[in-house]
Amino acid sequence: MYFCPVKEKLTHPIFQVVSDCAAEMNADAYVIGGWVRDLLLGRECKDIDFVCIGSGIELAERVAKKLGNDSHVNVYKNFGTAQIPYEDYVIEFVGARKESYDRGSRKPVVEDGTLQDDQNRRDFTVNALAISLNKENYGELLDPFGGIKDLDAGILRTPLSPDITYSDDPLRMMRAIRFASQLGFTIEKTSFEAISKNRDRIKIVSKERIADELNKMILSPKPSVGFKFLFDTGLLKLIFPQLALLHGVEFADGKGHKDNFYHTLEVLDNISKSTNDLWLRWAAILHDIAKPQTKRFEEGHGWTFHGHEDRGSRMVPKIFAELKLPLNEKMKYVQKLVFLHLRPIVLAKNEITDSAVRRLLFEAGDDIDDLMMLCDADITSKNPEKVKRYLRNFEIVRIKLKEVEEKDNIRNWQPPITGEVVMKTFNLPPSKTIGIIKDAVREAILDGIIPNEYEKAFQFMIEKGKELGFKKVNG
Ligand code: CTP
Repeated sequence: MYFCPVKEKLTHPIFQVVSDCAAEMNADAYVIGGWVRDLLLGRECKDIDFVCIGSGIELAERVAKKLGNDSHVNVYKNFGTAQIPYEDYVIEFVGARKESYDRGSRKPVVEDGTLQDDQNRRDFTVNALAISLNKENYGELLDPFGGIKDLDAGILRTPLSPDITYSDDPLRMMRAIRFASQLGFTIEKTSFEAISKNRDRIKIVSKERIADELNKMILSPKPSVGFKFLFDTGLLKLIFPQLALLHGVEFADGKGHKDNFYHTLEVLDNISKSTNDLWLRWAAILHDIAKPQTKRFEEGHGWTFHGHEDRGSRMVPKIFAELKLPLNEKMKYVQKLVFLHLRPIVLAKNEITDSAVRRLLFEAGDDIDDLMMLCDADITSKNPEKVKRYLRNFEIVRIKLKEVEEKDNIRNWQPPITGEVVMKTFNLPPSKTIGIIKDAVREAILDGIIPNEYEKAFQFMIEKGKELGFKKVNG
């Protein structure tokens, strides 16, 4: 019998309360699953799952009562579970159960079971660890499948046959890959093979659940780990075909291009060292997404991907919709970064003019720093001299951006001539012409043809109107 060395770590009063309530019910109770795993790994976990050999709902109600009037219980009768939000924890209770699955659904048929049954139904040995809260063996760790050994070795292994575990609930294939990425674990060989074999069953999992796992994976310290597993098991092609399409190298005239899948993963890992922002990481994933569609071999020139930034940014809404990611300002932000991701590189390659910098600042606005971060991450050359040169050039671009911003304040700039002013001055109804005149003034300021001043802009607007056959009536 192995006594949990973390018994002393059950310091939160909740464990004693659950233990007392279970004793009152004459039922056994255990803390189980992710909280135990994370305790042993030294990771913080705010979700605590309790399993009761008896009614989980009754245990939850007794615990809530003991914790005081403020706590309330959310009961999910259909699932036989109950939840108490307590302090900054979410505490879940379930009765120990046996599960059997129908092939068409992730919803199991459930019947009461023993602790062992309950541990059997869990996804990984490291998630099946339980700590007893019973008076006679409080703090005893129950590890029927060698979960501790797997935790030490960094292995994800299923308690029962992996073929059954993944086929029963195919979301677990995504969970295996996500945990591998989050924890830096490997997936045990037969498990990996079972995922490859059962990959088509991912179709019975809702897109939202897949997106949820994908986003957790993307937020892991080295997301390439997860994406490589997704690719190698064949899941990527099923859930995110556009990214899988980046894989591979084509040759013509003996010349190959780089493998855009592994390049993208490198950019993603690079940016993940600098930011935890999910959407900036998504911009890294999608920055070259249209390379397969824009790939050409030009004689005497080699492989080109002209316009991939524009085409890629236009692909973003469909990809977000398919993956059930939000179609809101986050998506627009990703689109914008994909669209602009080559601009600082173009700037760095050519002589940097004020007008080019002003234009970039205007288009990127407050996202300019994120864009520069993406550009830094996009440098994946293996030649240290080249890397140094690119970084130096970006430093020059950054200095220039700062100078121009200080001088012209373009980041949050609103052009001085609005549509209202144009309509009033020429006494025109709303029409396309208003936009043409307004945009001409904005472009003239961005190009440095006229200074960023109202009077000069107004004068320019009059001239532009005249060119189009309109006379000033007011103002
Ligand atoms: N579980 C499972 N199969 C699933 C989901 C969950 O067997 N498809 C089990 C695992 O034992 C897991 C526990 O239920 O540890 C709790 O699930 P959940 O809170 O979703 O996951 P955690 O393991 O706690 O990890 P995370 O919170 O990071 O998702």
